Amino acid sequence: MNRKTAFSKFPEIRTKHLILQQPTMKDVEWYFEHFSRHEMVWGGGEPGPKNMAVAREEFREYLVDLYRKRRGFRWIITLKGEGQPIGTLGFYKWAPSAGYQAEMGYDLAKEHWGKGIMTEAMMAVIDFGFERMELNRIEVYIMPRNKRSIKMIKNLGFKREGLLRQRFFDEFGNFADDLLFSMLRSDWEGLRADWKEKRRS
Ligand SMILES: CC(C)(COP(=O)(O)OP(=O)(O)OC[C@H]1O[C@@H](n2cnc3c(N)ncnc32)[C@H](O)[C@@H]1OP(=O)(O)O)[C@@H](O)C(=O)NCCC(=O)NCCS
Repeated sequence: MNRKTAFSKFPEIRTKHLILQQPTMKDVEWYFEHFSRHEMVWGGGEPGPKNMAVAREEFREYLVDLYRKRRGFRWIITLKGEGQPIGTLGFYKWAPSAGYQAEMGYDLAKEHWGKGIMTEAMMAVIDFGFERMELNRIEVYIMPRNKRSIKMIKNLGFKREGLLRQRFFDEFGNFADDLLFSMLRSDWEGLRADWKEKRRS
């Protein structure tokens, strides 16, 4: 699959417990509430949307248009048998000039933490990245304070590349450091057998 064919239809993904589905504007109210929560603002270092109008703009740009404009994918996470969104994850910065790499982002409602839900979603989406988007490299940037996210990404097999000083901002607009983690296609090839085994158990 290449960039043209990758986008012919939004790729819904089903895992053991989850359905990863296409974001639609009907999810905006949920998005507003979810990204206004303290733990989401703290984890991502982005202030929540100021009001519904801003939430609508952000949702359109970061979730809906991301796919429409062929720059990446963001899935809405739902539990099988329950239609309500509980989080999102996906790829962005999939530039035509560097189609072999993309960045990942993810977020899960707090009441679902500690159950391995994001790990399950990440494995499926990483498989999609290497198999269908033909990526060679996936990057994740995490603020050093976000120990939970760092733990998950290391457990998945991402490698720490280093600390990028004052690369971005925190939620108050102050410069803040980021840790850079990556997974290469060759890393993933070594992990696949183990992931298959984990999925069976
Ligand atoms: C980052 C975030 C997604 C991690 O969520 P999480 O639930 O800790 O992630 P995982 O899916 O990897 O779950 C791992 C936990 O589930 C437990 N678990 C239970 N069953 C499991 C299974 N089958 N597989 C893996 N882990 C399992 C693990 O023991 C671990 O618990 P612990 O941390 O108490 O030891 C979540 O904290 C979040 O959304 N934070 C706010 C937004 C954010 O920070 N986004 C990232 C910005 S960089």
